[in-house]
Amino acid sequence: MALPLKDEINRRRTFAIISHPDAGKTTLTEKLLLYGGAIQTAGSVKGIATAHHAVSDWMELEKQRGISITSSVLQFEYNGCCINILDTPGHQDFSEDTYRTLMAADSVVMVIDAAKGIEPQTRKLFKVTAMRHIPIFTFINKLDRDARDPFDLLDQLEKEFGIGTYPMNWPIGSGIDFKGVFDRENRQILAFQEFHRGQDRLSAIACDITDTEKMDSLIGEYQRKELVDQIELLDGASFDFDMEQVLCGKLTPVFFGSALTNFGVEPFLKSFIEMATPPLPRATSDGTSIATDSEFSAFVFKIQANMNKAHRDRMTFLRICSGKFERDREYCHVQGNKNLRLSQPQQLMADDRQIINEAYAGDIIGVFDPGIFSIGDTVCDPKRKVCFEGIPTFSPEHFALIEHPDSLKRKQFVKGVEQIAQEGAIQIFHEPDSGMERVIVGVVGVLQFEVLEYRLKSEYNVTVIRNNLPYQYIRWIRNENIDVKSLNLTSDTKWVQDFRGHNILIFTSEWNINWALDKNPDLILEDFHKE
Ligand code: G4P
Repeated sequence: MALPLKDEINRRRTFAIISHPDAGKTTLTEKLLLYGGAIQTAGSVKGIATAHHAVSDWMELEKQRGISITSSVLQFEYNGCCINILDTPGHQDFSEDTYRTLMAADSVVMVIDAAKGIEPQTRKLFKVTAMRHIPIFTFINKLDRDARDPFDLLDQLEKEFGIGTYPMNWPIGSGIDFKGVFDRENRQILAFQEFHRGQDRLSAIACDITDTEKMDSLIGEYQRKELVDQIELLDGASFDFDMEQVLCGKLTPVFFGSALTNFGVEPFLKSFIEMATPPLPRATSDGTSIATDSEFSAFVFKIQANMNKAHRDRMTFLRICSGKFERDREYCHVQGNKNLRLSQPQQLMADDRQIINEAYAGDIIGVFDPGIFSIGDTVCDPKRKVCFEGIPTFSPEHFALIEHPDSLKRKQFVKGVEQIAQEGAIQIFHEPDSGMERVIVGVVGVLQFEVLEYRLKSEYNVTVIRNNLPYQYIRWIRNENIDVKSLNLTSDTKWVQDFRGHNILIFTSEWNINWALDKNPDLILEDFHKE
């Protein structure tokens, strides 16, 4: 029987998993699917990605490099909850899409390798997550390998990220001595029976921490004593659990485990769905917000180009913010001021793409787009028009000068570069007073340069010359009516503009940014841009 709209929405949990490459994001995702019953054996998620490549020829490059440029959304059910996991692409395919995906999530799971602690990509993603003040859950992974001291890991999180930590469980040893975890709420240990590669669900033996005899038989006297000491220290020293602080992202619940061997995965999933919020009202551009159970509304957070080369189709991903999406209803594309029916709405279930008839606030749907949507656009019920706040433009870290030698192809070049920028894969800038023959392209991940060249060639038949530039930092100038030429800047700082005419400075080092701020006290710089 269909649930009332409010209940359907309240049972949704939409989150993104962030990590540095190799910390175990894919493995954890897969294990969550395993516990959700969405896959029967672990090891099939990578298979899905491969199968998906075989049917979508949208990017040869993806196949050639054997990587996934696409980020996907997976949906599965667990304990009455409908869970949407947003995958954030990492590795070389780290791009602005990775950041934008975080705009569509209601909470974030941060996976950290217990031997390495915080790594660079986690830092960048954390910064963007923190901007949104949404709950952040930490899963410290790979305890089955030698790990850093858990107290040190918590200390690093607190010092580097300025957040409080609350360990929900505590690891009993690490590496070959990893015996399980201590569950702080229930004051019992979960000792794992066997050490295997976690193809199936794992059963653990629960034991009250005061039951010395049983504890000794499960983890040995030495580890029991060590655990009791650590818990005493922990109970005395750690932050108090405060749900309010968790909900605004100031306190992160921390879980220790091993995704590979399934240790601690299910307890994590259970606590997570209890603590993570269902979709919450989303702010609109007029400063109000829209209740999740009112009419349908959604915003575009990702555009994936060229699903079908012959038609130049794109797939646009919408995050539903309120109400129920129905397949054959007419909706309004607010920015285009047009009513339309969304064509072939799709959802990626655990193992398959499916055309869907309905979806609810919290869900992500993909629709075919003939080229009308831009990142941040709103689609809603025509009866109740709303417009969501735009999605910020994030700082690219790599820049290149792109020129096209063939003046006859100028039109295609401009069209191609502009369309690819509209999809949000690249950002384009120009030097004030220069024409469209030379464009400065900024990207978050260097692979986007290759994607750009490849797509200009294959879709627009334009070959370009690329010269990489030494800039690494971008700052938008916030001062209006500023005479940029009169600023005191280092000689290797460059003034550029985006295509809306915003003034921007690009720098080769942080030292140069500090110089600019020092020598021009009135200058206001920002490292992301929001219309
Ligand atoms: P990512 O998506 O964050 O990049 O990481 P991924 O899950 O692909 O994991 C990276 C490597 O770390 C994989 O090994 C994976 O098996 C391993 N791994 C993940 N979680 C754990 C864990 O809890 N314990 C241990 N010991 N290893 C873990 P690989 O050798 O690169 O791949 P594979 O051959 O195992 O698939």
